[in-house]
Amino acid sequence: MRTMGKEDLEEIVDSLMDKEKKRFKDRDFFKIKQYVFDFRTVRNLLKLFNRGILKDFTWIVSMGKEAVILSGVGDRGPVAIKIYKSVSSFRKHLDYISGDFRFGFRSRSKLLDLWVEKEFRNLQRFKKSGVRVPEPYARSGNILVMEFVGDEGFPAPKLKEVRDPGIDPEIILRDILDNVTRGYRSAELVHSDLSEYNVLLWRSKPWIIDVSQAVTTAHPRALEYLRRDITTIIRFFRKRWGIGLDPDLVLNGILEGDHVERADGEDTQG
Ligand SMILES: Nc1ncnc2c1ncn2[C@@H]1O[C@H](COP(=O)(O)OP(=O)(O)OP(=O)(O)O)[C@@H](O)[C@H]1O
Ligand SMILES: [Mg+2]
Repeated sequence: MRTMGKEDLEEIVDSLMDKEKKRFKDRDFFKIKQYVFDFRTVRNLLKLFNRGILKDFTWIVSMGKEAVILSGVGDRGPVAIKIYKSVSSFRKHLDYISGDFRFGFRSRSKLLDLWVEKEFRNLQRFKKSGVRVPEPYARSGNILVMEFVGDEGFPAPKLKEVRDPGIDPEIILRDILDNVTRGYRSAELVHSDLSEYNVLLWRSKPWIIDVSQAVTTAHPRALEYLRRDITTIIRFFRKRWGIGLDPDLVLNGILEGDHVERADGEDTQG
């Protein structure tokens, strides 16, 4: 296979921009170029292209404060490419890492890569336990490549954007809580930032994303985060669809090991 250089990468990004020009503001293209052509990001992207893991970019999915998400094509099909740019609230992130015995403290300059590593490993661990998260494919420095949740390059909507889910919303809520339960009991992880913004609805199923800040159940604040996750998601379903589950009962159920039935009666995920 031909080795790709910076110029080839530039060409790909330019073609992405031309192709989709009408759909994005110039400001966004400028920002994406800044992100993508940051020296270390170029180096890490080239590694992924040259390893054959990445084949193309297709879309700009999201531009957040800390990360840009692109859709692309990988060796196994559509992928989401999460490029971490900055860890803005450094202190907050340290709080999630320092209490976590899997990650010793490292220098600030390595924090971004550490964050990607953390998200990658958390995705693996959730996935292994049957929690419905995107499958992680690869990582390179500040870049994470994972399964794309959505059809034909269009990302599935966040719960926040869903008005009519097409099925009984309570089924979706119970499915999410079932995933939280599996996460806690089997993966021994607490998401810690669960909300209507970090759950995508795809083919009537909730997919949990953005797991970089998840902590192990051994973290000193794990229970506090678990309670917050449950409360936040139940509050959203109550406000939007009037579903009245009691967060304390749900929390106790998870901690005391009550069986939480899968709402759709399926054993497998996905
Ligand atoms: N695997 C994926 N498949 C499809 N879309 C995705 C995937 N991962 C992320 N996205 C899209 O990108 C958005 C941002 O992703 P994520 O929540 O992981 O990043 P973030 O750091 O929270 O970014 P932000 O600062 O915008 O909140 C998601 O809301 C979703 O729309
Ligand atoms: Mg998010």
